[in-house]
Amino acid sequence: MDREKVRLQKYLSEYGVASRRAAERMIAEGRVMVNGSVVDAMGVKVDPAQDQIFVDGKRIETRPQLRYLLLFKPVGYICSVHDDRRRRTVLDLLEGINERVYPVGRLDYDTSGLLLLTNDGEMTNQLLHPSHQVEKTYLAQVTGIPASHDLQRLREGIMLADGMTAPAKARIQSVRQGNAVIELQIHEGRNRQVRRMMDAIGHPVQRLRRTAVAFLRLEGLQPGQWRDLTAEEVARLKQL
Ligand code: URA
Repeated sequence: MDREKVRLQKYLSEYGVASRRAAERMIAEGRVMVNGSVVDAMGVKVDPAQDQIFVDGKRIETRPQLRYLLLFKPVGYICSVHDDRRRRTVLDLLEGINERVYPVGRLDYDTSGLLLLTNDGEMTNQLLHPSHQVEKTYLAQVTGIPASHDLQRLREGIMLADGMTAPAKARIQSVRQGNAVIELQIHEGRNRQVRRMMDAIGHPVQRLRRTAVAFLRLEGLQPGQWRDLTAEEVARLKQL
């Protein structure tokens, strides 16, 4: 398996040397060397951690440009990079991104909303670490209208198959045709946690959207759209 390997032209564009097309031209012109040999054929794969790559005699920096993206994930996309069932993945929505970014945590196939993606592994670990998980806000349209004692159970912590949940913030945001939309804020990130919490109080989720992660909001984006975080947002995230 050469999992960690990438095509040379992709590597050159990821590392900011040139666009993919221009990188292909550079290769064809014999300007690129890998471990001391000129590579002028397409399709050669390199290992960024191991191989020494030179363009016009200059060694390429082995650190890719760090990217931080905020995506409005639509329903109907999975967050893993590969899927055995060949469903669409969130990476299919990121046209024009040369860097290999990964989702920070997961949203279910049938959940929409705010998803961060980055190639900054350190930040991913920081944001997902159980001891300092950031606050995530969800709007859950549920069946029926939870009573105040149901909401109180969410606030105090509720027993799920994998243990008690930490205290959450929960309130009724709106009611329509006998069904409520609950705003729920949690710090944890367990598998299908919001759905399981709502099941536990007897009000299953019909639709789920994540509207915020820490101070980041979906404002200005439509489902399927993304934007880069600003330098200020990145700095604030690192401080959390
Ligand atoms: N909780 C869920 O149940 N699903 C998600 O996608 C996110 C949180």
